[in-house]
Amino acid sequence: MTMRPTKIAPSILAYDLSNLKEGLEIASKGGADQIHLDVIDGRFAPNITFGPGTVKALRPRSPMKFDTHLMIVDPQLYVDRFLEAGSDLLTFQAEALDPDAFDALRSKIHSRGKEMGLALKPETQLPSWAEDRLQFLSALLLLTVNPGFSGQAMEVGVFPKIERLSRLVAERGLDLDVEIDGGIDEGNVGEVAKRGGNVFVAGAGVYGKPDPVRAISELRSRAAAVRGGS
Ligand code: DX5
Ligand code: ZN
Repeated sequence: MTMRPTKIAPSILAYDLSNLKEGLEIASKGGADQIHLDVIDGRFAPNITFGPGTVKALRPRSPMKFDTHLMIVDPQLYVDRFLEAGSDLLTFQAEALDPDAFDALRSKIHSRGKEMGLALKPETQLPSWAEDRLQFLSALLLLTVNPGFSGQAMEVGVFPKIERLSRLVAERGLDLDVEIDGGIDEGNVGEVAKRGGNVFVAGAGVYGKPDPVRAISELRSRAAAVRGGS
């Protein structure tokens, strides 16, 4: 079984929101694999961040993969906007997605050459409709905090789910990133990586550090040390 590569995804929500362009530059300087963009609508979760206009404005600033985490209700209404804006990966919260809309959404996203992901809140288990469709996904995002804000403490109660779902993905030999999101920093990324996952999102764990560029490579080497590979 081939090991999935370790990837680091800085979450730009934790940077100075008046200077997101600089946040992108820091991410590429640190060798990040993708930039994580948290879209929150004040309805799915109690915060309002940014939307497709911001994604579109950032697009020409960086060739990095735009990993767009949609924490919004009725996400199907906004898919066209995010595709036009330049999102590369559109990750939907399973709690907000109408399972009947999945197949049409997936065709739309894939016909544009883009990727689809599914996210689960800490308390949410993988629904059976999603388990049956894992082969169509590029990312399975497991939240280790409740959606809304950067800088929250990681919920270690999610670890058994990380183990279980990482095992499921490996057993099925799926070409699927398992992305862990919430409260990750240098101090705990090794513990998380031991449980599973291969993509590690970090907001405060990158942008809240005195040297965010170094923090990215530190996260990568600590995760890789546990997982093997680079
Ligand atoms: C939570 C978001 C996370 C968050 C991560 O709503 O999905 O991506 O910004 O930030 P940290 O790493 O600071 O918990
Ligand atoms: Zn996120």
